[in-house]
Amino acid sequence: MAVLNVNIDHVATIRQARRADEPDPVWAAVECELAGANGITVHLRQDRRHINDRDVRILKETVACKFNLEMSMADPIVKIAEQVCPDQVTLVPENRAELTTEGGLECANNLKRLMQVVKRMHKKHILVSSFIAPSEKQILASAEAGCDAVEFHTGYYANAVTDASVEKALNELRDARDIAAAAGLIIHAGHGLNYRNIEPVAKIEGICEFNIGHSIISRAVIVGIQQAVAQMRRLIEMNP
Ligand code: PXP
Repeated sequence: MAVLNVNIDHVATIRQARRADEPDPVWAAVECELAGANGITVHLRQDRRHINDRDVRILKETVACKFNLEMSMADPIVKIAEQVCPDQVTLVPENRAELTTEGGLECANNLKRLMQVVKRMHKKHILVSSFIAPSEKQILASAEAGCDAVEFHTGYYANAVTDASVEKALNELRDARDIAAAAGLIIHAGHGLNYRNIEPVAKIEGICEFNIGHSIISRAVIVGIQQAVAQMRRLIEMNP
């Protein structure tokens, strides 16, 4: 059965709206775990717009389930990962002007750098996942670089509006799953997944980890974070 990592960046976004000390993402992580989250994900951005160094340090000490650090391959951030040693890093592209991670990592054209980062993470026994478009080129480059896992960008699926485009996006994910599995990669998925669109993706055999943030934290504002996490967990469990 697939596991659910909750991305709690938005909790820090609310805190940063007032440059205050609440809500604390560390507290949010505990509540997510109590509600059944299998992992906690945060993105330490170079501009520190939400999650900061203190959060990452304390989360490493306090998260009892999987701690997944999303990050770019910029050297200062890679050095922090080497110091903090999360259970997993998910390598993402980062553009300072973007509202959220926009596209997948360009692995094929950055193979040398990707290989260096993978090697440095493996030296610290950190699992490496690359956040990529579900394309053969990027999957094979991730495998060549030595990544342990790939996270398929589900934004294309989430943004599809017609039945035909939804089905096309699901087929692309299934094809990508086959290629990644044949290359020996662990398969994750995330971005744009919500309570309405998770089920068909949760049904894709072989995807073993979901990273979901915006929709869970949005629902948490209304119903509370434990209920929001437990509801998403149930939807994943019901569609093994
Ligand atoms: N996976 C990756 C690599 C991401 O960058 C993000 C957004 O931070 C997510 C998953 C979660 O996306 P969403 O917030 O749309 O659920």
